Amino acid sequence: MTKFNGKRVYIHEVSVRDGFQIEPEFIPTEKKIALINALSRSGVAKIEVTSFTSPKAIPGLADAEVVMQEINREPGVVYAALVPNRRGCERAISCGVDEINLVMSSSESHGLANLRMTPEQSLIQFAAIASAMQDAVRINVSLSTAFGCPFDGEVPLSRVLYLVERIADMGIRSVTLCDTTGMANPAQVGELCSAVNTRWPELQFTAHFHNTRSMGLANAVAALEAGIDRFDASLGGLGGCPFAPGASGNVCTEDLVHMFEAMGLKTGVDLGYLLDIARELPEIVRHEVPGQVMKAGPWDRRYPLPDDLMRDPAPKHPVVAPSSLAAGRLL
Ligand code: COA
Ligand code: ZN
Repeated sequence: MTKFNGKRVYIHEVSVRDGFQIEPEFIPTEKKIALINALSRSGVAKIEVTSFTSPKAIPGLADAEVVMQEINREPGVVYAALVPNRRGCERAISCGVDEINLVMSSSESHGLANLRMTPEQSLIQFAAIASAMQDAVRINVSLSTAFGCPFDGEVPLSRVLYLVERIADMGIRSVTLCDTTGMANPAQVGELCSAVNTRWPELQFTAHFHNTRSMGLANAVAALEAGIDRFDASLGGLGGCPFAPGASGNVCTEDLVHMFEAMGLKTGVDLGYLLDIARELPEIVRHEVPGQVMKAGPWDRRYPLPDDLMRDPAPKHPVVAPSSLAAGRLL
């Protein structure tokens, strides 16, 4: 029993968007569709299927329409797409997405590098989009660089609170806090996540961590402790923003699910099945992937004893009595 026993958390799979957007080789459309169909049966709550961005900016996802239209949709799974502007919203809605994930930066420089828009310009667009489309489709806003910007450095907590307030004022009820280049640490995550949950209990917050500096899982626990129950994660640990220097993979979905289940949480995800899909990823992307549990196996994996111990279980060395250990008489 742990203090988390039975607590439900929701896993949002982003490999096919955050992961495939940065792959050097185009992943064939039918492989994307097959992977999404497999992920749909894993028990994840949401899949970010693709992005409706400029194909010049993100050539790897230029097949967004076909992918969105050809996948099989499982009841109960939310099919979302990342969108930077109004044009992207129109494309996404014409494909019948369940949720539009509007993306903007928390910092000026990453906004300009990634979207050619300042955060203020994004907010102006989003207000128009929200008032025109909110009744037709669910809207979430993802705040990139909410924990730090690779160009501008620190992003103050007050700045993120200001942006969330502007978003909430548009009537949008769902916000993702993104650590785009793995700059966040658990203390900072705890502080920001507690601050937003305390101030806006009516909003739904999701945490989106990258494992660039190996703090991803620690940050997820810090967010959990601060009351977050929705997590973006990427199969195999793929991922990264092509317009953020040094970006690398998201928190790995199967590693996150494994950790949460080991802690006594309920993810709704079939870990064994997810691991089977994850093991096919290197062949799809044609390189190794960072995920660890797919290599090590889950924590309760057991190995047979080595052969010599099976044959002769008696110890070969004299057992040292605890009293001689305590007295320091080992030799
Ligand atoms: N879908 C498809 N095409 C789009 C588009 C969209 N959502 N938005 C703009 N375009 C096209 C325009 O039609 C125009 O095409 P043309 O050159 O053939 O005339 C071209 O893109 C440039 O349009 P413009 O409005 O001037 O955009 P921009 O060059 O300022 O780029 C974005 C702005 C937001 C479209 C672009 O930077 C982008 O798609 N960024 C996505 C970044 C991303 O996904 N990063 C990773 C996730 S965090
Ligand atoms: Zn990301």
